[in-house]
Amino acid sequence: MASLLIDGEKCNKCGMCVAECTYWLLQIVEKESLPSWVDGAEALCINCGHCVAVCPNGALELSTMAVEECAPIRKNLQTSPEQLEQFLKSRRSIHEYEENPVEHEKLARLIDIARYAPSANNYQPVQWLVIEKREEVKQLAQMAIDWLREVVENDPLFAELMRAKEFIAGWDSGIDVITRGAPHLIVAHAQKDSVPMGDGLIAMTYLELAAHSMGIGACWAGFIQVGATFDPALAQALRLPEDHLSFGTMIIGYPKYKISRIPKRNEAQVIWR
Ligand SMILES: Cc1cc2nc3c(=O)[nH]c(=O)nc-3n(C[C@H](O)[C@H](O)[C@H](O)COP(=O)(O)O)c2cc1C
Repeated sequence: MASLLIDGEKCNKCGMCVAECTYWLLQIVEKESLPSWVDGAEALCINCGHCVAVCPNGALELSTMAVEECAPIRKNLQTSPEQLEQFLKSRRSIHEYEENPVEHEKLARLIDIARYAPSANNYQPVQWLVIEKREEVKQLAQMAIDWLREVVENDPLFAELMRAKEFIAGWDSGIDVITRGAPHLIVAHAQKDSVPMGDGLIAMTYLELAAHSMGIGACWAGFIQVGATFDPALAQALRLPEDHLSFGTMIIGYPKYKISRIPKRNEAQVIWR
């Protein structure tokens, strides 16, 4: 449970912290009084830190979140809408990778950025598995193929949906159709009884965009993900903590080729009212 610490010298009672609180837990009782908890609200604080983030004077902090622990926004690093548009539109799922691995520090930085993704109720349920060893990535790809062979045998419709026969044929001809020769695999996982599906996908998207900004390639590893959902052997091979499920898997590595154009996409289907 967080307690509220207000610096009376710095607080100008503007009320922004009150307005910005996710669950309306703060109040300014009288015009000249400092912000305080609504009765009993302290226990309901989700530690989202919006009150700390919005205060322009650094007047407010929580016992769980000191002002010094919350980096100031550096205006000189702000991206323009044009920069961001090109950045987002130029991200591609990368299909061919360089041999050289991504440095451990850079992988750690990706994870460090991804932990700032939004999560329902600020639960931050997503945890990470980073497979740095290429051989282990390859083993998982082999397991996904083994599972696809079983699917072809036992569930022809599902196999057709996943184009399993074509992927198996590609693998058998020596092409890594599952992990595309990428040196690393990152898995977002969470306790299965939490509510992490959306949280996992959003965190993965943050990770993919962070990778793009650092010149690192990424691509969803759909067959590892689906395999880990349906094949107990593949799920076990991930060796996630007990009661955890994978909510997204991505291959990671340096792109072999430079992307030169933004491919065309469907027009947005929008209902305007
Ligand atoms: C959930 C999901 C699973 C995916 N699985 C694979 C995959 O197994 N192999 C692959 O090469 N691409 C995979 N992709 C990448 C898509 O093919 C790719 O996003 C799509 O073709 C559009 O290309 P872009 O990401 O470069 O815009 C996956 C994407 C998503 C969102």
